[in-house]
Amino acid sequence: MTTETIEQFHQRVINDAGAAVRGLTVALGERLGLYRALLGAGPLTIDQVAERADVHPRYSREWLHAQVAADYVAYDPEADTFELTATQAAVLADQDSPTYAAAFFTALKALYATEDQLVEAYRTGGGVGWAAHHASLDSGMGSYFLPGYRANLVQRWLPALDGVTDRLAAGGRVADIGCGPGHATLLIAQAFPNAVVHGYDYSEEAIGQARENARAAGLADRVLFEVATADGIPGGDYDLITFFNVMHDLGDPETAARQVLGALAPDGVWMIVEPNAHAAVSDNVSPAGRMFMGLSAVMCLPVAAAEQGPYALGNHAGEETLGVIAKDAGFTRWRRAAESAVSAVYEARP
Ligand SMILES: C[S@@+](CC[C@H](N)C(=O)[O-])C[C@H]1O[C@@H](n2cnc3c(N)ncnc32)[C@H](O)[C@@H]1O
Repeated sequence: MTTETIEQFHQRVINDAGAAVRGLTVALGERLGLYRALLGAGPLTIDQVAERADVHPRYSREWLHAQVAADYVAYDPEADTFELTATQAAVLADQDSPTYAAAFFTALKALYATEDQLVEAYRTGGGVGWAAHHASLDSGMGSYFLPGYRANLVQRWLPALDGVTDRLAAGGRVADIGCGPGHATLLIAQAFPNAVVHGYDYSEEAIGQARENARAAGLADRVLFEVATADGIPGGDYDLITFFNVMHDLGDPETAARQVLGALAPDGVWMIVEPNAHAAVSDNVSPAGRMFMGLSAVMCLPVAAAEQGPYALGNHAGEETLGVIAKDAGFTRWRRAAESAVSAVYEARP
């Protein structure tokens, strides 16, 4: 229970209101390359930032002032110059950093734009499907997850699954279901050049982005991306089937789990990556927990509800519920194989 005074709580909510507005300035900073213009450049004037990012100087000034007020950019009032500290750069400007977070904010326009549909869904119990969102949801959410996948997937999560890396190194078959823009799919393909890697998603927009990302990574001829739903997985004999932050989005995860069972090779592995959130809400009071609870209320639950299946889990159903779904579908083995602050990695086997 909070011990804050009304004034303290009021200030905190005002602070959050400022953050909600600032989110748009972060999206602009990411899309216009404003943070990248500051990266490694030392102190810059308003005009220098404007020139480097190719934006109007008047807007450069206003954007920089918003960043300084948020302590997202360092300011020297004597010289009227702006600079990114190494810490700020690692989170807002360096796209290769494991803590890079600016790209997530580009998904906000997709989320905020569904407000009217959410009002309707909240009244009726209906849903707002993934495809009802602006395309920036695919790219923005994909970018949100990417640093975590880059830091963990090949180094920690795949080796934590029994025998999987050996099978992939020897040319195993992989299907990544609900692959979105394909970041995790491509990381697996890059790490295991002999593996046959397929990515499937029901969103045409996501598959378009995934193909584009494959081309950019030079993997277009090795990784097949196709539109398919989780309850109609194409092909079979897969050594590894992966669900990265997808299981809770499905209206019928049990049918999807049965599909996975049928599409796996003997002793193949189903890898399920889910938010590392807990069924008990009081266990989710943390920065990652706040993010997940918010996303569940405006994205994950409505996406699942739109599929009109027997489930609408939200993103914090918890390990026990997910394990029961896998077992009900016919998997006999289930375990938590790895985790990070943000993600829990489960291994299910026939
Ligand atoms: C949170 S995103 C995760 C995307 C990607 N796996 C990643 O981690 O970046 C969930 C994805 O599941 C896809 N999806 C939702 N329901 C689906 C279904 N029934 N069949 C296939 N894909 C689905 C959405 O289109 C979206 O790309």
